[in-house]
Amino acid sequence: MKPTALVAGNWKMNGLASSQAELEALANLLKEGGTADCDVLICPPFTLVAAFAAASAAGIAIGAQDCHTAKNGAHTGDISAEMLKDAGATYVIVGHSERRADHGESNDLVKAKAEAVHAEGLKAIVCVGETEAERDAGRTLDVVLGQVANSLPAAATPSNTIVAYEPVWAIGTGRTPTTDDVAEVHTAIREALNERFGAAGEGFAILYGGSVKPSNAHELMAAANVNGALVGGASLKATDFNGIIDAYRN
Ligand code: PGA
Repeated sequence: MKPTALVAGNWKMNGLASSQAELEALANLLKEGGTADCDVLICPPFTLVAAFAAASAAGIAIGAQDCHTAKNGAHTGDISAEMLKDAGATYVIVGHSERRADHGESNDLVKAKAEAVHAEGLKAIVCVGETEAERDAGRTLDVVLGQVANSLPAAATPSNTIVAYEPVWAIGTGRTPTTDDVAEVHTAIREALNERFGAAGEGFAILYGGSVKPSNAHELMAAANVNGALVGGASLKATDFNGIIDAYRN
């Protein structure tokens, strides 16, 4: 089974109620631009998930950027996958490098979060990626494949899990790996998925993330085993995000 491509926007800690205008602008651009051969997702901050899910036009899924491992309970300030489902989210990003770095999230924790997402019938976008020091030390594949092996639950399937490869040094920096480097890592991830999940391995979407913008999206999305993008900065503006979706229009 061939993966369905996904272009996902990660708004990070950006967006106010007034930002719903950007979601509406995106819906209009999608209508005008014609169908693209990919799913489209916006992950706003928690505060906007319910409003965006209620307002979102068909063709734009709404997701969240993190969740707790538990369904509910005494976890002040946390949000559960059940709450996100209740708010209308259908995807949850887990293990973003900013969470791994800022909140010390381990592979084990990321895996438990992905399991919590699955338990609600939602899709988990599991992020992996090496730091610049790891790349310079020639450890990219080691690090990335280790994260894939240890962050993905045993029950991961192509319909409940998406892998996002995001080199940490490419996030928000305007720097991107060469398409050959992207293809090398994505193909190594694909082989690891095939080895672990058998024939299902071919069905997992593997997104590239890190400084994706309209001007580099076509090239990056054409690399081997790239099945979409996880977009930060350029997802905040509907015109830029739509320009990335263009990579999936004929
Ligand atoms: P960027 O972020 O597109 O701003 O580099 C990507 C991400 O962190 O998901």
